[in-house]
Amino acid sequence: MCGIIGYVGPRPSQDILISGLARLEYRGYDSAGIAVIDGEGSLGTRKRAGKLQVLRDDLAAHPLTDGTTGIGHTRWATHGGPTDANAHPHLADDDKLAVIHNGIIENFSELKSELVAEGYTFRSETDTEVAAVLLGREYQASGDLTQAFRATVSRLEGAFTLLALHRDQPGLVVGARRNSPLVIGLGDGENFLGSDVAAFVEHTRHALAIGQDEIVAITPQEVTVTDFSGAAVEVEPFEVVWDAAAADKGGWSSFMAKEVSEEPEAVANTIRGRVHDGLVQIPELEGLDELFTGIDRIIVIACGTAAYAGMVGKYALEQWARVPVDVELAHEFRYRDPVIGARTLVVSISQSGETMDTLMAVKYAREAGAKTLSICNTQGATIPRESDAIVYTHAGPEVAVASTKAFVAQITALYLLALHVGRVRGALTDDAIAEQVSQLEAVPEKIARVLASEQEHIEQFAHWMADTRSVIFLGRHVGYPIALEGALKLKEISYIHAEGFAAGELKHGPIALIEPGQPVFVMVPSPTSSPLLHAKVVSNIQEIRARGARIIAVAEEGDAAVLPFADEVLRIPLAEPLFEPLLAVVPLHVFAMGLATAKGLDVDQPRNLAKSVTVE
Ligand code: AGP
Repeated sequence: MCGIIGYVGPRPSQDILISGLARLEYRGYDSAGIAVIDGEGSLGTRKRAGKLQVLRDDLAAHPLTDGTTGIGHTRWATHGGPTDANAHPHLADDDKLAVIHNGIIENFSELKSELVAEGYTFRSETDTEVAAVLLGREYQASGDLTQAFRATVSRLEGAFTLLALHRDQPGLVVGARRNSPLVIGLGDGENFLGSDVAAFVEHTRHALAIGQDEIVAITPQEVTVTDFSGAAVEVEPFEVVWDAAAADKGGWSSFMAKEVSEEPEAVANTIRGRVHDGLVQIPELEGLDELFTGIDRIIVIACGTAAYAGMVGKYALEQWARVPVDVELAHEFRYRDPVIGARTLVVSISQSGETMDTLMAVKYAREAGAKTLSICNTQGATIPRESDAIVYTHAGPEVAVASTKAFVAQITALYLLALHVGRVRGALTDDAIAEQVSQLEAVPEKIARVLASEQEHIEQFAHWMADTRSVIFLGRHVGYPIALEGALKLKEISYIHAEGFAAGELKHGPIALIEPGQPVFVMVPSPTSSPLLHAKVVSNIQEIRARGARIIAVAEEGDAAVLPFADEVLRIPLAEPLFEPLLAVVPLHVFAMGLATAKGLDVDQPRNLAKSVTVE
């Protein structure tokens, strides 16, 4: 969850570091710091607990040197509280070496004991300082920062991205990664390192992905990548499709408001380039048919909102590809000793591509012999690089902690995958595929219609409901994961208790929660394409209405059956059952945002949460 940036080039690095850290704020943090070396070989560093503005104010009052080599860090506390002393960078080798770190060094305490026994002292409680002191000791032995890194990382266990600079080597920043993100930005006479491309996208979109257990040394003119043994390795260049403006709020009140408004284009952009003559063709999957012909089962693994996207995708995968699908929470999957092997395809879903629970589950699946496919929104992220195949969502940068446009993009990618697998396995005719493709291609415009027609109405009654203390969400079939997603969104940004249920579960317990005035959102299936389910849900509505519930129905345009029982009806355009979730979720995203805003809360950076959970 920490943010990392490194810079070497002709320009003063301080402002580059701070603006890069500002674009990484969304990762969630509680302290920030930078280190800069100038041409005279002096190393300046400044670090402060709190938000980036605290560091900015301090630097404004007491600027660092105008050095052109620098590293910067935003810290999410794991070992040691958010204090100035525990903030990064950490210094070593007589304060000539500065180190920043993202991840957790699992064996730091035994390393610390070893170093203390050798007479080293420590100024913080962090695992990072142990790595810094170890690196300093190795640098004293070799006088070469890259060699010192090689000797150090071989002693570390756990997950880490480390960056360091040394006063005696201006113009050089060295980094290493294991189970934690790091990408390279290639400039003209300058180079960058970042925990993700947002760190440097305002300066360059030319990037290189660094693989597992690799070390990178950057100077203004050169980038050298080697493995932990010192052997040169191939790196994958890629173009960042986001530009600096895309990663900015663009005048919206919040990143979340901007990203909800982008839900139509997130779907459209995820489809783009993957449909030709009405048929699905996913370039990333060309030549990989055996991934789908040789399997007899798919397991979808993810966390949070991504898992709910997987629950929706299950219906399409089973209906179109005719392959049994299970959806599991990644952190449960890995510890239940699952029965998987070469005929299992494990599909991971992750917006950030760095969620440690999901990453470790993917690595577990690979070690167990399963094939792996990553659905991810972040190019060059760790999970896609650990997978046999990738289908990127193209939702663009999602900065708000609450995932919205990535969710609809994930469902879209799963549908494209399901149609692709259906074709490869001969389970779908071209005509059947073309029919579903045309339904999918109609979704962006339908989402836009929901936003245009309902957003203001939803924000209004969200305002009236600002004092609500709990909300229930009900759904059936593909509406059930949407109920779960609606509840999660509300919980995570408005801090209100909310729970999603399968509507059929009501009589098996949850109906005891219903008392007069209890707000209940109900996802109502289409009366035209799901008449049986529609009737069941309408009777569920009557049951809770009879007990005083306040019903907010998400129902298809023209559905009059809900009118006698609903206090509010939010209309969505007519769509086939599998495409309704993409429309029904939009009012729930808007509602959660409206209620959090009405409560005066920070919708982008809710308390206790980070955008990417890169620790287990
Ligand atoms: C969703 O709004 C939450 N922020 C959270 O549940 C998130 O979906 C989950 O942590 C998975 O993140 P990922 O998609 O980056 O793996």
